[in-house]
Amino acid sequence: MKQVQYETFPGAKVTDDMLAEAANLFSENYGIWGEQSLTPGKRIRLGKRRLRDQYLPDHAATSYVRVTVDGTLAGNAFICRWRHDDRSICWITQLVVHRNYRGRGLASGLLGSLLMHPDDVYGIMSSHPFACLAAARSLGMGIEKVPLNFIKDNAEAILKASPVPYIGEAKLRGTLFEGSSSTGLVCGVDTGFFVDHKEPLEALEIVRETRQWPLGNLLDGHEYLLVLQSKHRFRSATSTS
Ligand SMILES: CC(C)(COP(=O)(O)OP(=O)(O)OC[C@H]1O[C@@H](n2cnc3c(N)ncnc32)[C@H](O)[C@@H]1OP(=O)(O)O)[C@@H](O)C(=O)NCCC(=O)NCCS
Repeated sequence: MKQVQYETFPGAKVTDDMLAEAANLFSENYGIWGEQSLTPGKRIRLGKRRLRDQYLPDHAATSYVRVTVDGTLAGNAFICRWRHDDRSICWITQLVVHRNYRGRGLASGLLGSLLMHPDDVYGIMSSHPFACLAAARSLGMGIEKVPLNFIKDNAEAILKASPVPYIGEAKLRGTLFEGSSSTGLVCGVDTGFFVDHKEPLEALEIVRETRQWPLGNLLDGHEYLLVLQSKHRFRSATSTS
């Protein structure tokens, strides 16, 4: 029987050794650069210093969640929190699970462990449909039930309030925001992040075989966007109305 352990650390408590392990996990498992990048075909790599600068900046409220299986780092997530319009926003800035441990619910478990600290709104930008499924699942909803109207009405202001530059600068794209679009994207962001989409597109095909996928086509340099209201917020909002 394998021992699976989830642990959460405030950003300031993340040591260099932990970051070195996280950098290794990312560099070996995240993905490769796409055709339109400067180094197509090369693994996307991150060192521990860039991880700290980009994902755990001193000026922001950050945390790190990891899952180990029998003591081995199998997956992790970086989180940034901020407030907007009297709501606490919890944003998943990075999520990666080791190849050998995928498809066992670890991404969903990592995101589920965020609920220990209740926030009002959860968000993620990701090109990987399985990451979107995991985010929706961790909030107790199927991807088919994601309330697109909430995203349409709130995404711009929430992103703009972010202390993380690449989130605030992401351009909202898709029919949800632009009215009409010939690309088939419904709800996403143009981040200019040219990761190779072979793996996410294969995942998209798998998802579309059995489920209704509400976010549309995946475009180069773009990621899907999910901004989800937590049930805790929904309950308190409805009980006071
Ligand atoms: C995306 C990623 C984190 C998913 O990790 P994972 O631990 O394999 O995901 P889980 O096992 O928790 O599954 C998440 C969802 O995807 C589905 N899924 C996962 N693997 C699947 C497969 N092979 N076939 C069909 N569905 C699959 C699960 O059923 C689950 O959906 P559900 O809860 O609605 O049923 C992992 O593939 C990864 O690290 N990819 C590379 C990095 C990346 O793209 N990260 C996201 C950017 S932020």
